[in-house]
Amino acid sequence: MKLQLSPQLDGIDWHWLANVFERAPLGSRDPALLETSFRNSQVCCFARVDGVLIGAGRALTDRVLWTVIYDLALLPEHQGKGLGKAIMDSLAQQAGAANVMLYAAPGKQPFYAKLGFRPMKTAMAKFANAEGAQTRGMIE
Ligand SMILES: CC(C)(COP(=O)(O)OP(=O)(O)OC[C@H]1O[C@@H](n2cnc3c(N)ncnc32)[C@H](O)[C@@H]1OP(=O)(O)O)[C@@H](O)C(=O)NCCC(=O)NCCS
Repeated sequence: MKLQLSPQLDGIDWHWLANVFERAPLGSRDPALLETSFRNSQVCCFARVDGVLIGAGRALTDRVLWTVIYDLALLPEHQGKGLGKAIMDSLAQQAGAANVMLYAAPGKQPFYAKLGFRPMKTAMAKFANAEGAQTRGMIE
């Protein structure tokens, strides 16, 4: 198994990546919106195993104080092998900011806790689809 991590957007099949997110599972994504959100992120990481795209993550960053990580997902058959941690490390290292923030999908907090993240006491969010976010357990 040959793992490759790359920030390169060229050549990404966005329909394929949407399928990776769906299977992870991290929800259903419109491939065009997925492409725009990755292209507009300063930092991206795409994971390939033997040349096949199997996971990704992205981050917004000011490169000094704060990085916010989004959309980390791997195909189920590649989970639990250290690749999620490798993508997280790559995103934080590429961004270079002192502080890193994210919101975990419900149930994934233990993964982030292992990487040193701690629950925030005052985090708040205004979701476009607040009802959906509430149903998914993201907000009160
Ligand atoms: C969450 C996810 C990215 C983690 O990636 P991964 O490659 O499976 O995790 P890793 O193998 O790098 O795990 C790193 C450490 O966290 C632990 N860990 C991983 N997932 C865990 C979980 N759900 N609960 C508890 N510990 C977990 C691992 O055991 C490992 O511990 P170790 O260092 O002591 O061996 C991946 O499982 C995934 O894509 N899930 C579906 C999509 C999703 O929920 N994404 C997160 C959105 S916020």
